[in-house]
Amino acid sequence: MLLDIRNLTIFADTPQGEVRVLDRVSLQVAEGEIHTLVGESGSGKSLVARAIMGFVNSNWRIQADRLWFRGTDLLNLTAKQRREIIGVDIAMIFQDPIAYLDPNATVIEQLREAIPAADLDVPFFQRRAARDKYAAQLLVRMGIRDHQDVLASYPFELSDGVAQKVMIATALAHRPYLLIADEPTTTMEPVMRAQIYKLLAQLHARYQMSILMITQDLATIMPETSRITTIYCGQVMESGPLQSMLTTPQHPYTDALSYTSLFQSERLKPRQKLATLAGLEPTLQHMPIGCRLGPRCPNAQRKCVQRPELEQVGKHQLYCHYPISVKENAS
Ligand SMILES: Nc1ncnc2c1ncn2[C@@H]1O[C@H](COP(=O)(O)OP(=O)(O)OP(=O)(O)O)[C@@H](O)[C@H]1O
Ligand code: SF4
Ligand SMILES: [Mg+2]
Repeated sequence: MLLDIRNLTIFADTPQGEVRVLDRVSLQVAEGEIHTLVGESGSGKSLVARAIMGFVNSNWRIQADRLWFRGTDLLNLTAKQRREIIGVDIAMIFQDPIAYLDPNATVIEQLREAIPAADLDVPFFQRRAARDKYAAQLLVRMGIRDHQDVLASYPFELSDGVAQKVMIATALAHRPYLLIADEPTTTMEPVMRAQIYKLLAQLHARYQMSILMITQDLATIMPETSRITTIYCGQVMESGPLQSMLTTPQHPYTDALSYTSLFQSERLKPRQKLATLAGLEPTLQHMPIGCRLGPRCPNAQRKCVQRPELEQVGKHQLYCHYPISVKENAS
């Protein structure tokens, strides 16, 4: 397994006391697969990504039975391992690329820094020219036609779509095993969004690069996705193969997300109500006990104040006392 997360919990201090912002999250990404993590705004998707990258607030407590990348424990990296893995073997792209690029450096300057010397099979004095050539090749590979202009530009001179492509090029300069894409197209127009997804699919196919894709909306899922995991209020709800998660979800939360993506013409907006679930996500300070979906869940019963254990239903793994097929069979 490329990435193996078991029971990851993050404890955050709030004025009301300690809160589990992630509560026993498990997630596996296999070599060469695209795995999509889906949940409404505030469900903890970015926190999972930040825990993998080691970007968690220093005053938060993080605990896991396993947080492994290619067999290495990400919770106990030495400084040398961190330099070798983070941003190199695991790269990340973000929702707002312009904010993450250095505003004071041109694209060529940023790409030069990202390209490892080991990849340039030339003597020391030819490295700069080789780096510039490789930087131009990277942008061409990203489908950027006017790459010379883009190389000379500062981030604020780029459109969101081109900036995202530059960010992907920077991330891919190291040829990572795993790319974490945290809502990489949210701010983009549909045409650019489609281009970015196509590009990621091509890169995935060409380099067998694994991708952990993060999105709020099942409607934007890449068809190349192998598995989907749904997350709600810091708790994983269900995980399973793409098709059966979309067509026969077992968990009421996945069901609500898939119903929304199939029958609602507009894309999901932040804090938008889901057709089959009452209410909205609670705030951190008011997390329900047990299964956190309880107050919104149409299947909820008294037992749901106890956190359900992981259960296998068909091809799906889920946390729910009353999965959909079990309820249907009982009625
Ligand atoms: N630095 C922080 N300080 C305090 N609370 C935080 C911080 N970062 C995240 N949180 C809280 O943790 C929860 C999960 O946040 P996270 O950013 O992971 O959500 P998300 O699923 O990525 O949402 P979105 O789709 O809007 O990006 C939210 O309730 C958020 O308010
Ligand atoms: S455990 Fe209970 S509240 Fe949670 S999703 Fe299942 S039925 Fe709903
Ligand atoms: Mg996020």
